[in-house]
Amino acid sequence: MRKKLIVGNLKMNPLTPTEFGRYLDMLERETNGKNFEKTEIVVCPPAVYFRQFLERKMKDVKLGAQDVYWEYQGAYTGEISAGMMKSNGAEYSIVGHSERRKYFGENEEIINVKLKAILKSGLNAILCIGESGEERKSNETASVLKKQLEKSLAGIGIGKTEYITVAYEPIWAVGTDKVPSSDEILEAKIIIKKILAELYSRKAVEKMRILYGGSVKSSCAGQVCVDPAMDGALIGRESLTPYEFIKIASLVDGG
Ligand code: 13P
Repeated sequence: MRKKLIVGNLKMNPLTPTEFGRYLDMLERETNGKNFEKTEIVVCPPAVYFRQFLERKMKDVKLGAQDVYWEYQGAYTGEISAGMMKSNGAEYSIVGHSERRKYFGENEEIINVKLKAILKSGLNAILCIGESGEERKSNETASVLKKQLEKSLAGIGIGKTEYITVAYEPIWAVGTDKVPSSDEILEAKIIIKKILAELYSRKAVEKMRILYGGSVKSSCAGQVCVDPAMDGALIGRESLTPYEFIKIASLVDGG
């Protein structure tokens, strides 16, 4: 059985190395003595904090990037390549987050080249997909997920599928405190698996993890992760509080 995956997306937080140091103190305290047999835990801080994270040598928490640039190297002011993330300690990278789509104009073509760069560098990818509230209301969820998956995964062979995790993050649930019902999440998961099985094979898809993301809290982890049998969660705000973050990881690990 593949391990479940709990990912903390710290977004553009915390503000200073001192605050991040305190965060790591708390994270160490929360993970110490706990045994996550069925679950991998990944934290994705801003890249400026990678070294500080790695200096702690945490055995239960892996490092992830929030995004990468698709080029390998060169005159791309301000960008960080997938290879640089990898050689600086990251094992995972998020790609296609709805905030990247919204604020930085990322479309499926961009997400596709970023995903290819992530896989080429040897990082594991966490590909975010999800419909907007409008799209859900007009019954377009399945077609939106299909378009996002087909375009983002274009040209990526079956041999790479084990390095890709799909995070279903309905845009209307991100940062809002609204969460879908277990049935709605299960339905989305079935749709995603079906699309992936058409693109690859049922056998390959069995090895791909499908996470849920969007307003995950310990109080709803059962509803959004355990009941619809998700392979884990992608967590924003609650990952900034190690007590809550690790509580969710424990619930998922025991679920
Ligand atoms: P929240 O958990 O804060 O809703 O954010 C979800 C998210 O965007 C994780 O990538």
